[in-house]
Amino acid sequence: MALQLKDIQAPIASEMQEFEKKFRSFMKSNVLLLDQIMGYIVKRKGKQMRPMFVFLTAGVNGGIKEETFRGAALIELLHTATLVHDDVVDDADYRRGFFSINALWKNKIAVLVGDYLLSRGLLLSVDNGDFDLLKIVSNAVREMSEGELLQMAKARNLDITEEVYYQIIKQKTASLIASCCAVGAATAGQDKETIEKMRSFGEKIGMAFQIKDDLFDYGTSEIGKPLGIDIKEKKMTLPLIYALQKASWLDKKRIIYIVKNQGNKRSKVDEVISFVKNSGGLEYATEKMNAYHQEALAILADFPDSVYKQALTDLVEFTISRKK
Ligand code: IPE
Ligand code: IPE
Ligand code: MG
Ligand code: MG
Repeated sequence: MALQLKDIQAPIASEMQEFEKKFRSFMKSNVLLLDQIMGYIVKRKGKQMRPMFVFLTAGVNGGIKEETFRGAALIELLHTATLVHDDVVDDADYRRGFFSINALWKNKIAVLVGDYLLSRGLLLSVDNGDFDLLKIVSNAVREMSEGELLQMAKARNLDITEEVYYQIIKQKTASLIASCCAVGAATAGQDKETIEKMRSFGEKIGMAFQIKDDLFDYGTSEIGKPLGIDIKEKKMTLPLIYALQKASWLDKKRIIYIVKNQGNKRSKVDEVISFVKNSGGLEYATEKMNAYHQEALAILADFPDSVYKQALTDLVEFTISRKK
């Protein structure tokens, strides 16, 4: 049977419950409009995979502490902030199965809501003196902005290579998941070397995570966010990059022309999608995703067996088999 997040959560079920309560309280605001929007966000929570990575890696590394909860909340607050901003940047009106913040309240408000979430995360760490966590996570936030901007630069010129694609997803997605695992190990009291090893484990998962996310865009199943939006936004991801790499000069010219000028026409976007599918782009990306999955598991193999390690293994598996 397919892995379910609920089952994977079993060893940390009480922690996740407590986490949710805390997370909600960290978002409260005395400003009515903000508090309404925070209520809206909390109601449509995501998969919460990042807090799960924090708790499970802490478990694997010797134990979940009070600081682990703050680390998990810090990361989920920043993750939520980046999603709110991302939907402005990507002009996306749909998130977690419902309207995005920018769709309901417009861009101006969404930008400020993202900033508010970011500041609440930072304050949570500062108020508790969690400077070690802040250092790990702030670096990830910097990388995320750099990755998003690199992606934009490449969308303007449509000159992305496979190498640059990996750099983009490493920065915009893998860096935060890497932080989850580093934070888990750090709050469990591990040494530098182990924290670094966990960070690298998280980075591999993060790469697989984003390749999976990019594959969704070529599918047709409901995932709670828009489909086919990458091509529309001139965002060339691995399946398309691969297909273009092996295309004839003429096909390349035709496809790039569509991405550049006709991304708003559904029939044209469908033409690109068919081209990618016929070129084996989805299979190629899946192969790469599986390779990162294996690399992650190889790193995890060095850690002692426990219920946490088993759950973490399942969560890694879920990352590439998930349906949304
Ligand atoms: C979405 O992350 C953003 C990406 C990095 C692709 P998730 O898929 O974890 O989002 P939620 O929190 O579950 O909605
Ligand atoms: C993921 O980017 C969001 C960040 C890492 C900031 P995408 O734009 O690819 O993700 P979705 O598909 O909108 O969630
Ligand atoms: Mg984006
Ligand atoms: Mg997006």
